Amino acid sequence: MIAKGHTSAAAAAAATLLLLLPVLLASAQDAPAPKKVLPSYVPVCKRKDADLSGCVRRAVETLRPRLRKGISRLRVQPLEPFTLPALRVERDLPALRVNASLADIHVDGASDFRIQKLRVDPENLMVSGEVLLPLLRVKCKYAISGRLLTVPLQGRGNFYGNFSDVLVTATGRGKRSNEGGVDHAIATSINLRMRLGGAKVDFDNEDPDSAAAANAALSFVRSNTDAVLEVVTPVAEETAEEVALQMINNIFMRLPFNEILPDA
Ligand SMILES: *[C@@H]1O[C@H](CO)[C@@H](O)[C@H](O)[C@H]1NC(C)=O
Ligand SMILES: *[C@@H]1O[C@H](CO)[C@@H](O)[C@H](O)[C@H]1NC(C)=O
Repeated sequence: MIAKGHTSAAAAAAATLLLLLPVLLASAQDAPAPKKVLPSYVPVCKRKDADLSGCVRRAVETLRPRLRKGISRLRVQPLEPFTLPALRVERDLPALRVNASLADIHVDGASDFRIQKLRVDPENLMVSGEVLLPLLRVKCKYAISGRLLTVPLQGRGNFYGNFSDVLVTATGRGKRSNEGGVDHAIATSINLRMRLGGAKVDFDNEDPDSAAAANAALSFVRSNTDAVLEVVTPVAEETAEEVALQMINNIFMRLPFNEILPDA
């Protein structure tokens, strides 16, 4: 239910980071000088580097402070906090019927990501890896209606969640595109899985008509967290995939391909 929007936002941030940076970094030192989009402080890894994945990992560590604050020139938004203005989730599944809108999503802790695995395949424009987020604190506004398992979901208010040891595994694939006359990369698909070590959620309800339903839902979520996560996680993963794909392509649109993966 509501928990999904928040972890999705953080997972999307993690996936974006995981999938985007290697491509940004797999760039040549001597790219053509005029109108270079990639800032000079972005560490460079040679495309033919025998340990390209290791090089990219070290480069990400170097860039971590900048990632916390964001890189506006590349439309990389700040990771600390990571925010999303709005997210809609609509599903009609046997165990979960939901119509939710989330707003002012605010996530603390995304910049403490730890890259566990990373594989960069520049020939096939494919990146896969695993990122651990030790602790994410999430808050947002929500408005929801629907049903989770046997429990009606109804209300609007504020949601709070603490998620520990969030493990995000993702594979991204891309291709070249010449849309708009500029040769650039586009991410064509992202496949994302996530697993939560622990989840603590809380929410208030500002809708007096649904106070009883909201209380029942909260106590159900708290006493059946595992069952709830099982239902909610696939929807959260799909949501994170959509958000990450959008964020990545928003960045790629502005980056000529020869800056991120030069032919030479
Ligand atoms: C979801 O809610 C919005 C407004 O809150 C409404 O416009 C929309 O029709 C709803 N969608 C479904 C599938 O019920
Ligand atoms: C999340 O953690 C903070 C700090 O430890 C705590 O104040 C807050 O109540 C926790 N929130 C939930 C929903 O458990």
